[in-house]
Amino acid sequence: MPTRDQVLEALATVNDPEIGKPITELDMVADVQVDGARVGVHVLLTVPGCPMKDRITRDVTAAVKTVAGVETVDVALGSMNDQQRAAVTQKVRGGPEKAPGGQPVIPFAQVDSQTKVIAVASGKGGVGKSSITTNLAVALARDGFEVGILDADIWGYSIPRMMGVSGRPVAFNNMVMPLQAHGCKIISIGFFVDTERPVIWRGPMLHRALQQFLADVHWGDLDFLLCDLPPGTGDIAISLAQMLPNADMVLVTTPQQAAQRVALRAGQMTAQTGMKVVGVVENMATFVAPDTGREYRIFGEGGGQLLAAELDTELLGSIPIDPRLREGADAGVPLVAGDPDSPTSQRIVDVAKRLGRSKRSLVGRSLPLAL
Ligand SMILES: Nc1ncnc2c1ncn2[C@@H]1O[C@H](COP(=O)(O)OP(=O)(O)O)[C@@H](O)[C@H]1O
Ligand SMILES: [Mg+2]
Repeated sequence: MPTRDQVLEALATVNDPEIGKPITELDMVADVQVDGARVGVHVLLTVPGCPMKDRITRDVTAAVKTVAGVETVDVALGSMNDQQRAAVTQKVRGGPEKAPGGQPVIPFAQVDSQTKVIAVASGKGGVGKSSITTNLAVALARDGFEVGILDADIWGYSIPRMMGVSGRPVAFNNMVMPLQAHGCKIISIGFFVDTERPVIWRGPMLHRALQQFLADVHWGDLDFLLCDLPPGTGDIAISLAQMLPNADMVLVTTPQQAAQRVALRAGQMTAQTGMKVVGVVENMATFVAPDTGREYRIFGEGGGQLLAAELDTELLGSIPIDPRLREGADAGVPLVAGDPDSPTSQRIVDVAKRLGRSKRSLVGRSLPLAL
């Protein structure tokens, strides 16, 4: 005959679809009754009328049926009261919602954070920041890392399209669940605004949006959080640097001198903020004509190397112009996901490997500035 412990063990394999943690750990299992071959499970939903209730019922039933001797599973659904919900939120967050001063807590800015935050920046737009961010993220995720992408390009967001993800993230007790695609967790202002309308926010609104993306999104335990920055050294870059003084920065530039000069300014900003430039990615470096195999240097050469030298950092890689990279971005399937073995993908995977190896040590971290 099945035992209560066996049933609980089976229930521990069922994850809440939105929070991604076992329902037993989230205190969603209120009661288990075993009556011979008949098992009754009382499940508390985190929100009444949870859209996932059918899925949870199905998953619970399937899990309990794997226990030897169980023939019938009755699932009764209820919902948590405010107190229970608050307790779960606290558990999920792994800490209090607000710091003693009332400021939201940014998990990545805590001294014991294990997440490596990488801001992908550039001097000017159109050099391939978002393309590099998405492909690097996918490469890291394919390598087994837990990866998040924060689309910090509030005005010119492009991550949802490039990752092929849309929809509105669900909120749970003041926490927002990120959307997921190609093995990465993603948050973008594009999930919250009318796509036909431009976002015209300035300083304080931008700051608040970033703060919410960092503090109110349930990212879980990430190895990497990649932040796709807007071009230049504006409000967003400064806010982000204040909130995440321990973040690393990867600069993207094309090989041409003019692009390299403006990228240098973006890199120099880090000297004032505590962020650290960990490398340069040169994008659109060469173009190999598919018919003749001849190599062209359309945007000049040497910019990446020069930038790395001037910022006393390394050139992490040089990515060719590849129409398939653009096609992948337009189709919502980053090239590294669609064709991981292509030569261009391999170049990006190599950059990801170098970043993966250089996980920053906790020693000597500066504490976050007051916001
Ligand atoms: N290496 C590349 N080869 C071909 N097209 C590229 C490459 N890198 C970027 N692109 C394309 O160039 C455009 C600008 O890239 P994007 O990543 O949006 O730049 P940014 O985020 O810096 O503004 C996009 O259409 C993108 O698909
Ligand atoms: Mg972009």
